[in-house]
Amino acid sequence: MNLFDVYPINEITIVKAKGSYVWDDKGEQYLDLYGGHAVISIGHTHPHWVKRIEEQLNKIAFYSNSIKIPLQQQLAEKLGKVSGKEDYQLFLCNSGAEANENALKLASFFNGRKKIIAFSKGFHGRTSLAVATTDNKNIIAPVNETDNIIFLPFNDEAALIDCFNNNGNEISSVIIEGIQGVGGINIAEDSFLQKIRSLCDEYGAIYIADSVQCGYGRSGKFFSHDFAGVNADIYTMAKGMGNGFPIGGIIVSPKIKAKHFQLGTTFGGNHLACAAALAVLETIEEEKLMGNAVMVGKYLRNELEAIPELNNIRGRGLMIGFDVPGELKDLKKNLLWNQKIFTGEAKPNVIRLLPSLALKKRDAEQFIDAIKEEIEIMISSTTPAN
Ligand SMILES: Cc1ncc(COP(=O)(O)O)c(C=O)c1O
Repeated sequence: MNLFDVYPINEITIVKAKGSYVWDDKGEQYLDLYGGHAVISIGHTHPHWVKRIEEQLNKIAFYSNSIKIPLQQQLAEKLGKVSGKEDYQLFLCNSGAEANENALKLASFFNGRKKIIAFSKGFHGRTSLAVATTDNKNIIAPVNETDNIIFLPFNDEAALIDCFNNNGNEISSVIIEGIQGVGGINIAEDSFLQKIRSLCDEYGAIYIADSVQCGYGRSGKFFSHDFAGVNADIYTMAKGMGNGFPIGGIIVSPKIKAKHFQLGTTFGGNHLACAAALAVLETIEEEKLMGNAVMVGKYLRNELEAIPELNNIRGRGLMIGFDVPGELKDLKKNLLWNQKIFTGEAKPNVIRLLPSLALKKRDAEQFIDAIKEEIEIMISSTTPAN
């Protein structure tokens, strides 16, 4: 049997990983500023995470949600403390798409409405409703098409107000990333998120903060939506939550009451996933990783600003993007093959940095030296000699 070929891949086989580094099967070392798509939050194979999972594996890995799983309550309490949303309620699932699917569904159960506002360049996952709210026609199958989604331009307050004025009583929820990831690192303005909050309150709609990529401390705050100083009704999470162990979840404001059987999952919240997620939160707290994300992120942005060839350096904490001019379109590829550094991209010409929140300053310095060197090589090879 062959694999179903849906991914264009780099011809690299990674066999070992530690902190911000990975090694291939030939022993070559790479600096990982991509984290397998923003997943590695506390660093590859972090010893506390490995120990927690190993210990749990030797006790029990899985049982379904038909019995008590105290690790879930421990995780809820820890998450409440680290995120500051102590009065919220946790529902666990397995991925980001599933988290968004559950959030959108819960909002609709809550207010009995069908319409959802989503934004241009947003990405919310690939399950049916999550993909319908994703602004990419190529990944929406005919069966996912629905008239229930209203797409509005990102950060356009006038369009948002207009939409609520015309359809306010039909809007079930508004879903928005605090920082768009797949869309190219675009920050939702604080005033825009505040406007979403006040319009949702006015019209009885639910504000869903998709924090799958921009959450879990990546921005320097636990949820990047927190920069706006308002609370969402539901936060969705995945990626960094398990540092590579598959787990997702939503936290739900106290105003939404749980009802038996409205949401459910077989694997969500299993013992092993909870152990991994607890290890992540314990490490974020113990090693003050949100502070590190602010500090190393600031260093990276300042240094990138000083490179004249790069444009529009943006982001928060360790979620950073910049535009690459046409003549440097191979920069990401060259960073990988020549400098042995993984970075992320967004079409058409954005490089994204999504490293572990434990990235050390000296690793960031290595990247800055490497990108300068690579740009110099690329420019000198395109500039004709006199
Ligand atoms: C903002 C956002 N939401 C949702 C998802 C979907 O998450 P998953 O791939 O775990 O389903 C992603 C994945 O990239 C994402 O970036």
